[in-house]
Amino acid sequence: MTTPKNKVVFSGLQPSGTLHIGNYLGAIKQWITLQENNSAFYCIVDEHAITVPYDPASLPTTVLDTAALYLAAGLDPNQSTIFVQSHVPAHAQLAWLLATQTPLGELNRMTQFKEKSANHQDRSTLGLFAYPVLQAADILLYQTNIVPVGEDQIQHIELTRDIAKRFNNKFDAVFTLPEALVNKNTARIMSLTDPNKKMSKSDDTAKSYITLTDTADAIRKKISMAVTETEPNFSFTNSGPAVTNLLAIYQAFSEQSVQDIENQFASSGYQEFKSSLADLIIEHLSPIQERFQTIRPDTKHLEEVLADGAAKAAQVATKTLAIVHEKMGLA
Ligand code: AMP
Ligand code: TRP
Repeated sequence: MTTPKNKVVFSGLQPSGTLHIGNYLGAIKQWITLQENNSAFYCIVDEHAITVPYDPASLPTTVLDTAALYLAAGLDPNQSTIFVQSHVPAHAQLAWLLATQTPLGELNRMTQFKEKSANHQDRSTLGLFAYPVLQAADILLYQTNIVPVGEDQIQHIELTRDIAKRFNNKFDAVFTLPEALVNKNTARIMSLTDPNKKMSKSDDTAKSYITLTDTADAIRKKISMAVTETEPNFSFTNSGPAVTNLLAIYQAFSEQSVQDIENQFASSGYQEFKSSLADLIIEHLSPIQERFQTIRPDTKHLEEVLADGAAKAAQVATKTLAIVHEKMGLA
């Protein structure tokens, strides 16, 4: 993956309190690299999080947990604008304006909506249906060029481009067309218990995912219980989906070449490979966990970082919103 420079980068994730290694490898690791030479905005999307049943009393805590994890993982408030979506009202405002221009048919095709509404059949809401329009507003407010995400978000970024193109044709050329940036090797980290499903926090079994705050013991257990195929074969091209997934995780954390990893484990059994993989994950997560322990209790500092981020984000966002108002005849 060549790293873009001098671009506007925007991404976000929902404040659920914990992040798993799929979020880390699929999204956040790219965010950290991209913050260096680009103008990066990283958002905690609390207005997206409330589109499914949630607990209002614990949302403020999970927002701060997520902010602390962003910082502990390596996002630097001096390099990136880190903020909470609801602190910048322009997001919800632009979402409404874009909603008036978005055909229902396009939203009906969104697979994330289909999956989520299937899980919450009787509680499916207009907000859940409109979720991708709010996401489009997030991205378009900042004239974003690059959106680093995992594979499951590509469809939403494509919809964002369609919304932007339609607006630009109908009103005026206001919006930059964004592009999704996915890291091919880690775009879809799979569940440790079922390699046909993606790793997800909403999975019923915690054995299927490793969170950034899992203890070393828990990580060793989960990796040792991870499903594998019956034929041991540590090859990126000739393994089954379970082993390929474990190899992809190994490669992402070690940053070694495929060839080196295949050679290293050519004569190993599962035990040896798994124990080496667990060590590698623990080695990478423990500094993040140590930083999290220091950062998380300092609520005042976290709130300052987020307030500062929201002020910086609002400066850009309100400018775009004012132009949209004017072009739509609302000025
Ligand atoms: P979510 O947890 O759905 O809010 O996702 C936050 C970010 O992590 C998005 O960019 C997702 O595409 C990415 N992501 C979520 N699950 C995975 C996974 N299993 N593998 C790779 N990326 C993922
Ligand atoms: N929908 C994204 C997810 O579930 C989160 C998100 C909201 C997002 N707004 C965004 C991601 C803007 C990238 C850009 O992961």
